Amino acid sequence: MFEIVPQTPEDAPAVDALLDVAFGPDRMKKTAYRLREGVGPVGELSFVAKKDSVLVGTIRFWPIIIKTDAKPARRIPALMLGPIAVDPALKGQGIGMGLMRTGLAAAKGLGAQIVVLVGDLDYYNRVGFSRAPAVGLRMPGPVDPERLLALELEPGALTGVSGPIGRAWGHKARKVAALPKMAETRRSHRRSIA
Ligand SMILES: CC(C)(COP(=O)(O)OP(=O)(O)OC[C@H]1O[C@@H](n2cnc3c(N)ncnc32)[C@H](O)[C@@H]1OP(=O)(O)O)[C@@H](O)C(=O)NCCC(=O)NCCS
Repeated sequence: MFEIVPQTPEDAPAVDALLDVAFGPDRMKKTAYRLREGVGPVGELSFVAKKDSVLVGTIRFWPIIIKTDAKPARRIPALMLGPIAVDPALKGQGIGMGLMRTGLAAAKGLGAQIVVLVGDLDYYNRVGFSRAPAVGLRMPGPVDPERLLALELEPGALTGVSGPIGRAWGHKARKVAALPKMAETRRSHRRSIA
């Protein structure tokens, strides 16, 4: 059996080691990493899978911004799912699906409306990702367009949207725009301690 729990700072070295095993040391050359440079993952959406207290799976989400082609352009906050990885020795036991279901439920709970990723449709369609809502989106680098997928946590959030995906700069864009319910919690917390 395995358990899925929030990632703690102490988990970071094991997460990095697992990602190196799963994707190879060149993983940071992938296009998705251009969206992560200088931007941290959403802490509340970082989960790990543990089996007998050993870290065997990881999922994180990065905040991103879709700048629409429409005039005037809109900046739509969204999340990018990934990286997700599972210990190769434990593949096929539902750990990956468990990580995604936990992460996506938490993202929805925080008010996220759009999640995108680059990956295999046959795997990610099991949790609702598809190509159609992502068809107007563009990554900042080479990506097979068929692998750019999206999930609307708020139905229709990507209807008619086209434009490039970019980094979510700065604390405000990250915390406030992408996850309104978390931002609300923080604002009311600040008010209550002011
Ligand atoms: C992809 C990954 C996270 C899946 O984790 P997992 O715990 O093995 O997945 P689950 O046990 O939840 O699901 C297994 C099922 O998904 C299928 N599956 C796994 N990867 C798949 C893929 N890339 N494409 C299609 N189906 C896939 C398996 O065949 C299996 O199917 P079954 O239920 O019909 O037997 C894991 O294989 C991994 O770490 N891969 C290396 C890193 C990686 O590629 N990450 C994703 C980047 S896009």
